[in-house]
Amino acid sequence: MRKVFITRKIPEAGIKLLKKNGYKIVISPHNRVLKKVELIKYLKSNKYDGLLCLLTDKIDGDVINAAGKQLKIIANYAVGFDNIDLKAAKERGIMVTNTPGVLTETVAEHTFSLLLAIAHRISEADRFTRAGKYKGWEPMLLLGSDVAEKILGIVGLGRIGITVAKHAVKGFGMKALYYDVKRNSQFEKEFGAKYVNFNQLLKNSDFVTIHVPLLPSTKHLIGAKQFKMMKKSAYLINTSRGAVIDERALVKALKNKSLKGAAIDVFEFEPKVVPALKKLDNIIITPHIASGTEETRSKMSELAASNLIAGLEGKKPPNLVVPR
Ligand code: DGY
Repeated sequence: MRKVFITRKIPEAGIKLLKKNGYKIVISPHNRVLKKVELIKYLKSNKYDGLLCLLTDKIDGDVINAAGKQLKIIANYAVGFDNIDLKAAKERGIMVTNTPGVLTETVAEHTFSLLLAIAHRISEADRFTRAGKYKGWEPMLLLGSDVAEKILGIVGLGRIGITVAKHAVKGFGMKALYYDVKRNSQFEKEFGAKYVNFNQLLKNSDFVTIHVPLLPSTKHLIGAKQFKMMKKSAYLINTSRGAVIDERALVKALKNKSLKGAAIDVFEFEPKVVPALKKLDNIIITPHIASGTEETRSKMSELAASNLIAGLEGKKPPNLVVPR
């Protein structure tokens, strides 16, 4: 009987699917992120054919090399896979999979919620009202910024970037600019979007939204120099990975008002949220929950399990990042 180790409790759908297909499942009994030594201990036991892990598990070279020969596949419960050393997995002949597609709409919805919320000062206004500061309607109270007619700059035109554009252009009358390593003429036609270089995007956008994976080339893609290029009235939205933005530079830009606001779901030093960010009023921070709806997390669980099953049954997993 094939055995799968799951590093933390996940929605039932994937567990059910694995059980239905005859897999023996061991779920970490600690409902927290496992320490590296603990991960190594589990994998070293040579009992597991598959590992289902989370984006919070750092599956580095040491962890991969500690895995017994039995381990054939690592199925990440996330679309991003910057937590896994792909080179080490490839060298050991271990497949790696992820969960794209099923979370596109949900992450795009969260992104657009953040965009609307920062533009209309929703969190700030909520804090204000709860604090008993509302004394009556005022012509100048908590004025926000309109979204309609504004320019949205999309950095990284994958599925999520395209879906954010759909909400922005078709739902809210925004205009779209985008930057990606690849041009997409179909997208340009459908959304009237304009392809620009990265600097042009920063200079001309009223809202910049980030949808790139974290790679050595995208680490600190936005730092002090880029903040200087952006409009003082611009907002930055990030639901990708925290380290794409230089967080120290972000704090400075928000403090000195060279950037009007930011709304982020991810942090450079996750799970740590630097105190300086928490003190600012012109930022909204959510705890990496952009894909966090019941429906989507359930689909992610099922997809991670389907990837595992396919890989262990000698078929090509639907979302293969590293083949054997
Ligand atoms: C992912 O899947 O990479 C997301 O960050 C999860 O919310």
